[in-house]
Amino acid sequence: MKTVITYGTFDLFHVGHVRLLKRARALGTRLCVGISTDEFNARKCKKAVHSFAERAEIVSSSQFVDHVFAEEGWEQKRGDIIRYSASVFVMGDDWLGEFDFLSDICQVVYLPRTEKISTTGIRENILEGR
Ligand code: CTP
Repeated sequence: MKTVITYGTFDLFHVGHVRLLKRARALGTRLCVGISTDEFNARKCKKAVHSFAERAEIVSSSQFVDHVFAEEGWEQKRGDIIRYSASVFVMGDDWLGEFDFLSDICQVVYLPRTEKISTTGIRENILEGR
């Protein structure tokens, strides 16, 4: 078993999320996804449209996802990688370089983002009635 781990808010689940999860899963045989809790988002001054429970339910229904868990803070990643025996840590390349400090315990991979789609963009389009 080769475990891959990734993190995100995954609000207003969109095709960029699907493609990220698909490519992450292809790097191993099990994909574990940390979903940011509503409390953690509040500390980042973010408020998701969908609750943590809803976002976790949506992400866990993906065929590319084997397990979801709560991301409650910045500091837990090293412990999660060890707990899940993850050998690959994946993030989109908007985070390029930010998690290189984990490369002493696993491979750190930044995948190119899908262009022209984001939760922020969808929210803005809805608010502007597009
Ligand atoms: N992601 C991606 N391509 C996109 C959007 C997101 O590959 N077009 C990836 C991110 O890089 C991250 C994961 O999907 O690894 C979860 O991203 P998240 O921040 O939840 O989604 P965004 O659409 O980027 O949300 P926001 O606009 O709030 O930043």
